[in-house]
Amino acid sequence: MSEPLEDTIPRTIGLVGAGTMGRGIAEIAACAGLEVSLVEISAAVRNSAVEVLRRSLSRGIAKGRVSAASPDEILCRIRWHDSLAPLAGCQFIIEAVPEQEHLKRQVLTDLDRVCGRETVLATNTSSISITRLAAATGRPGQVVGMHFFNPVPVMEPVEVVRGLQTTQSVVDCTVALAKRLGKQPLIVKDQPGFVVNRILLPLINEAAFVLQEGTADAATIDELMRLGCNHPMGPLQLADFVGLDVCLSILRVLHGELGDPKYRPCPLLTQLVDAGRLGRKTGWGFFKYT
Ligand code: 3HC
Repeated sequence: MSEPLEDTIPRTIGLVGAGTMGRGIAEIAACAGLEVSLVEISAAVRNSAVEVLRRSLSRGIAKGRVSAASPDEILCRIRWHDSLAPLAGCQFIIEAVPEQEHLKRQVLTDLDRVCGRETVLATNTSSISITRLAAATGRPGQVVGMHFFNPVPVMEPVEVVRGLQTTQSVVDCTVALAKRLGKQPLIVKDQPGFVVNRILLPLINEAAFVLQEGTADAATIDELMRLGCNHPMGPLQLADFVGLDVCLSILRVLHGELGDPKYRPCPLLTQLVDAGRLGRKTGWGFFKYT
């Protein structure tokens, strides 16, 4: 009889996408001593991810958070690829491509074709139905949500999202892997936005409405929320940090799937995204960044 999955945390994990979330997951996995096979099709994203990882690891080493003599000691555990084929042998793969359903479905369908039958396919989606994504594969029982928070090296929880058909052993394996990565896994059901984004995005959206209505300027709204609610960042700064395009896409999922007008995206948020002001990553969102 084969060993239960949770007793066999793989030494190599596969990752797809080296954007903010993917490179953060790669960092914590490599720091935890795992080998990482990371697929990123864009050379520009790959190059910038390596630089960000090097800086983050240097800071971690200087502060004693990361135990290594140099960033290269950790970075050498990350193997870079530009296609999915090298992930064929991985037992556990996390996709962290941009938050667009057609893209995630395509990646999962392709992984399903490339990988062995035992491979678990996890998705770091922030709001898309795990059950629907799982249906893009021939292995819905082995598809699970693994929702990390930004910045990944700092934020403790991971939402482990059980799709309608996700098996218990896959949930157990995902919980065990999250713990191995130094995170606190919390299991939730597959509902739009899961728990955190279902609550957080209406807060961010409301802050955008308050700004749009001219009740206060962006800096004042954020200062009041920081001081009045003791939040580490104001909601508008947090939205810029997460990415306004990501915020908008989560709100659209909440609005579309729950059908309640309270989730309708604030027109100002939509306009900023239309203008290409996506937050920190483009240097300008609600605030400007240098
Ligand atoms: N990557 C790695 N480490 C980082 C980092 C980053 N991007 N940003 C900060 N850190 C580390 C710092 O190195 C420092 O660690 P150290 O004490 O060991 O040196 C620690 O975090 C604190 O950093 P700073 O002192 O520089 O800055 P702050 O005290 O202002 O903290 C923050 C920065 C941790 C980002 C804090 O502002 C915060 O917690 N903000 C809220 C973040 C949040 O809510 N994230 C969840 C967003 S929702 C989400 O991700 C879900 C998605 O689906 C939308």
